[in-house]
Amino acid sequence: MKPPIIIINFKAYENSFGDKAVNLGKKIEKISKEYSVEIILSTPATMIYRMSQEVDLPIYAEHVDPVPLGAFTGAILPEMVKDAGAKGTLINHSERRLRADEIDDVLKRTKKLGLKSILCVDRYELVYPFSLLKPDAILIEPPELIGTGVSVSKAKPEVITRAVDEIRKSEGIYLIAGAGITTGEDVYKALKLGAHGIGVASAVMKAKEPEKVVEDFITSALRAISS
Ligand code: G3P
Repeated sequence: MKPPIIIINFKAYENSFGDKAVNLGKKIEKISKEYSVEIILSTPATMIYRMSQEVDLPIYAEHVDPVPLGAFTGAILPEMVKDAGAKGTLINHSERRLRADEIDDVLKRTKKLGLKSILCVDRYELVYPFSLLKPDAILIEPPELIGTGVSVSKAKPEVITRAVDEIRKSEGIYLIAGAGITTGEDVYKALKLGAHGIGVASAVMKAKEPEKVVEDFITSALRAISS
């Protein structure tokens, strides 16, 4: 049985950087090890080096810029995040869109560098066409549900089932579902609908006891794949 994929996107909350981010990362690492379920953390670019040094989980970038090496002030390149310790990157998040040609360029770069890629889409119709660009995984998130606490699994289950149908047309690409995932039940449902994993941000980043939320997610995911 394939282990579930859980990605926690730190985004740009007040605890997404500095000591607070490292402490949160360490708490998540502890739960992850307790249950032997790997959890991916995508963090702000400025935190990739420190998180990679201090937290024993795969650290991903939240975004990389689609420009080559050279005179591009302020750019964060795939080469830079790899050098800082990232194992992969999100690409084309709803909060950081890229053009299709830029996505293709970035995916070619990440592949060459040995970085994993999670390509985000906002609708199931894009799952198959974007799978042709060969990311490692596609993360589907209806943007209108992001950060709402209303999960895609409950509010728009058809988005997941249709995305699952689409991903099956390609070989070896994982389908992850996200947006509004809040409870273990949301995670359970997403996996039962056929997703290989879930992506989450606010339910963890805004939680008083994030380790409890993550534990609920992990146990629900394990329940889903074993029943
Ligand atoms: O990348 C995951 C994210 O966009 C989902 O956000 O706050 O709805 O869990 P949230």
